[in-house]
Amino acid sequence: MVVDSTKMNAAKAALQFMGDGMVVGLGSGSTAAIFIGLLGALAKRKGWTLRCIPTSEDSRALAVKAGLPVAGLDEVSNVDVAVDGADAISGEGYLVKGGGGCLAREKVVAYAAKKFICIADESKLKADFPGIVPIEVLPFAHAQVARDVKRRWGVAARLRMGSGKCGPIVTDNGNYILDAGFRKIGRPDGLECELQCVPGVVANGIFARKKPVVIIGGKSGARILKV
Ligand code: 5RP
Repeated sequence: MVVDSTKMNAAKAALQFMGDGMVVGLGSGSTAAIFIGLLGALAKRKGWTLRCIPTSEDSRALAVKAGLPVAGLDEVSNVDVAVDGADAISGEGYLVKGGGGCLAREKVVAYAAKKFICIADESKLKADFPGIVPIEVLPFAHAQVARDVKRRWGVAARLRMGSGKCGPIVTDNGNYILDAGFRKIGRPDGLECELQCVPGVVANGIFARKKPVVIIGGKSGARILKV
C-alpha cells in the first residue's frame, strides 16, 4: 500500500499528544488508519498501556491488528483524547465528517474526549465550507428527512448508495446516510443543532460544538492550524 506522505505527517504529529495510561478515541478513514498503525507501534516501543475506543468496525480491526487494546465507552470512565480525520475544515476550525459513513460514533467519541485532535492534509481546508454534509438517518425515515431538509434549507439530500452493491450503504449502526449539499453558511454550530432536531436524524456530519486541535499535514511536515 502506498501511504500518502501528507496524511502520514499529520498522523505522526498527533503522537506528541499521546501518553502512557491514556484512553484514546480512534477515528475512521485513511488518515485515522495511519494514526492507528503509528500509535500501535509507539505503544509497543514504549511499553505503554492504552485503552482505545474505535469509532467503526474497520478501526476496531485495525487497532487489534496494531496490538492496541480496544474497549467500549461502557468500559471506561472518560476519554482523554480522540484523534480523527475530516472531509472539510473551515478557517475557524469547524469540521465536516462522515465521508466514510462513521460520523455518529465519531461524534460521540470526539465530543466525549477531553481533547479532540483532527488530522488532515491541506486539501481538506475548504473556503466553501460546509459543502456536502453527511447525515445518518434511520432507514425508516430517510425519505422524510430528505423532504424536511429540502423544505427547511432548500438543498437536496441524496441517499448514499453502496459501491459494488445494490441499494444504499448501511452504517455500522444499521442506518442510512444522506448527503446534503449545503452552500456557505453563517453559523455551523446553529446548523448542527437544527439538523439534529429533524426527526429521524441520528447524527449529522457538522462538528462545530467541539473545538479540535487541527493538525494539517504537508509534504515536509505538519502544522497546527491557528484559529
Ligand atoms: C469517516 C470520516 C473520515 O475521518 C473522513 O472521511 C476523512 O477520511 P480520510 O482520512 O480518508 O480522508 O469522517 O466517517
